Amino acid sequence: MIKLGLYGAGNRTKSLIDTFKYDDFYKVHAVYDLNENAATALAAAYGGTVCKSADELASFDGVDAYLISLAPVAHADALRKMIPAGKPIFIEKPVSFSGAEMKELALLAEKYNVPVQVGFMRRYLPETLAALDYIKTNETGQVFSVDCTWHHHGETEMNYHVFNNTNDFRLKVSQIPFHCCHQLDVMLLMGGKVKSVTSHMNKIIDRPYPSPDDLTANVVFESGAIGRFHYSSMVYYSEISYRFHAENYSIKMNTQDKQMLEIFHRPRFVTSRLGKEPEKQADCGKFNVTYEGFCKPDTMEFSQGLAYANENIMYDFVRTVRDGVKPWADLWAAARVQGFAEAIELSAKLGRTIEFDEDGLPIID
Ligand SMILES: NC(=O)c1ccc[n+]([C@@H]2O[C@H](COP(=O)([O-])OP(=O)(O)OC[C@H]3O[C@@H](n4cnc5c(N)ncnc54)[C@H](O)[C@@H]3O)[C@@H](O)[C@H]2O)c1
Repeated sequence: MIKLGLYGAGNRTKSLIDTFKYDDFYKVHAVYDLNENAATALAAAYGGTVCKSADELASFDGVDAYLISLAPVAHADALRKMIPAGKPIFIEKPVSFSGAEMKELALLAEKYNVPVQVGFMRRYLPETLAALDYIKTNETGQVFSVDCTWHHHGETEMNYHVFNNTNDFRLKVSQIPFHCCHQLDVMLLMGGKVKSVTSHMNKIIDRPYPSPDDLTANVVFESGAIGRFHYSSMVYYSEISYRFHAENYSIKMNTQDKQMLEIFHRPRFVTSRLGKEPEKQADCGKFNVTYEGFCKPDTMEFSQGLAYANENIMYDFVRTVRDGVKPWADLWAAARVQGFAEAIELSAKLGRTIEFDEDGLPIID
């Protein structure tokens, strides 16, 4: 059984280890948290020894793998401390808010040959897995665009934390690198490497919430595809949705307030585009009936949600530790995601386009 060293004893740590509470894949062996009470309470419930410092955790005898989940600003330093211990690591997102720092960490992990899995669990939702699998196994032709929407009423989150604890990290970080990184991760899986980003934003409402009120980013991918990311924290509904357009098909994902995938195909043949008797069709509407018949969507609706995604990502981590399988969401993937998030906000603030280098990281001077 894998013996876990926990760096952080907060809510997310508990929900991650609860995922396989009764499956005997792992057990808690050691735990460290800045808040000793939190570490002691976790050890009382799950077992393991409480460490007095991060150094003690890093050298604690018998740990097979580490799980790091902290206030996001603490992640990079924690990772720097744990990588030299040479054990596989699961770390929550965001690992860092800077593409350059992410690259430094990815290189450090390579130097110590340490596999690091990052908690981008939205790529593990069933509809995302199905969409990515479809794109991989069905010839796209030219990809034209990837369009992503992340809308939420940020005031509810702000009200909650202002009411309960004005010190909560969720009031100190922007949603785009902190939370939308999940969507940006999927956007990169669909669109590939980014070439440049140009953003505009509104930040007009005076409130203790660092996220933009509204932001749109226009993206150019290396493949020639274009993209758009639209974030808003000043809307009064929630939507996390995607549109993928390519020469051979279009995919809508989660656009109907459901976990739904809709795949619309371009009619494949001249006959399916024109119909059997095009010469008899006098009006335009009827001329296109055949075309529209052929591109009616294949639709799939999924029921499994975030618990299923947690199960998938944690099982991948078990396989990394137990079977040596390479992590899917590794530090290089996270570097590209966090660099992308950084560039999206910076472009709006600086009022200029940001280009990306060959590693897929923003060029920021
Ligand atoms: N992937 C996901 O879907 C998902 C979901 C929820 C949370 N998260 C991530 O998990 C992380 C933790 O979130 P949470 O809800 O558990 O927060 P939390 O406040 O419940 O727990 C954070 C813990 O980290 C400890 N801590 C903070 N800084 C530390 C430091 N420098 N050294 C040692 N301990 C430190 C705190 O004392 C606390 O116990 C966040 O980064 C968040 O982004 C990810």
